[in-house]
Amino acid sequence: MSVIAFDRRLLILSGKGGVGKSTVAVAVGLRAAEQGLETLICEMGENEKIAPLFGRAASSFRETPLGVPRLSSIYLDPQEAFNDYVRASLKLAALARPLIESRLIRAFVQAAPGLKEIMTLTKLMEFERLKDRKGKPKYDLIILDAPATGHGMTLFRSPMLAMRATKVGPIYQKAKLISDLLADTARTRMHIVTLAEEMPVAETLEMIAAMRGDLHIPLGDIVINAVAPPAFQEASGELLDALQQAPAITAAAGCWGAIGPQAVMAVAAHMDGRSRLNAHYVRQLQDSTDLATIVLPFVFDTPWNVASAQKLAALLR
Ligand SMILES: Nc1ncnc2c1ncn2[C@@H]1O[C@H](COP(=O)(O)OP(=O)(O)OP(=O)(O)O)[C@@H](O)[C@H]1O
Ligand SMILES: [Mg+2]
Repeated sequence: MSVIAFDRRLLILSGKGGVGKSTVAVAVGLRAAEQGLETLICEMGENEKIAPLFGRAASSFRETPLGVPRLSSIYLDPQEAFNDYVRASLKLAALARPLIESRLIRAFVQAAPGLKEIMTLTKLMEFERLKDRKGKPKYDLIILDAPATGHGMTLFRSPMLAMRATKVGPIYQKAKLISDLLADTARTRMHIVTLAEEMPVAETLEMIAAMRGDLHIPLGDIVINAVAPPAFQEASGELLDALQQAPAITAAAGCWGAIGPQAVMAVAAHMDGRSRLNAHYVRQLQDSTDLATIVLPFVFDTPWNVASAQKLAALLR
């Protein structure tokens, strides 16, 4: 069993594209909500996936309950973040609309280095500070499902860039608050999600170096996702030899359908190869960093659904 700590309000999950950041965000969210924590998953990236996974409509920049007690999600779309920022800054809707709809302004926001990232992170920061009617924090845990490495680095560097570019003024102040939040060891912790494969492991090591270099985001664990289990309990030469014989015997007995025994053996051998490759990279990660590792198995589910993520959540205790 792997324990994931919920002692800081902002839990960031970052990593290479497609390694399972959103999946792990859902698993961690389910686990936290089950433990009684009011949890919000803030999703970034190309497309919104989390609300639809739970059968909900797109979140449209609103906190969307996922049908599980205490668990909500929101997709932090950069354009919506800009609109929200303008509305909040100008208060008067009549003034905000022409700005929001202006193509020139949109082009400027797209082009200005770090600006839309600052606006998106501003929204995240607001959730971190949000209070309920009694003045208590509305969310005990905010999970940021960050964009894939390249965009993620741009995102996490944006406060620094904005501060350097502006030096004073409202954008500078926002960027400073965000930068303080991201670096705060009392409020923030980043876990890196990876696969136990060559490229994701290389990117994980690069990301650790960057966080410890100029970015100063406190690091937690490395979540090694979708690790293939060994195909055989005991992959001894003798056992494999016996299995190689077995398909021929069972084929002779005529008990196979369209998929022949050779195909089944090939799949098992492939899975076993994957399992050994994964084990190699798990060891490499464990040997080359001082961060704790949480290993999550490959879940054999098609199609992927909430119950699949729940299987991973059950392992996070
Ligand atoms: N532990 C696992 N076992 C089996 N399949 C998995 C596992 N984790 C993730 N997957 C599969 O991989 C797919 C991609 O995962 P996910 O969307 O979480 O990746 P991501 O890192 O968020 O991708 P992106 O960078 O595009 O946002 C999932 O839809 C699921 O089908
Ligand atoms: Mg994702």
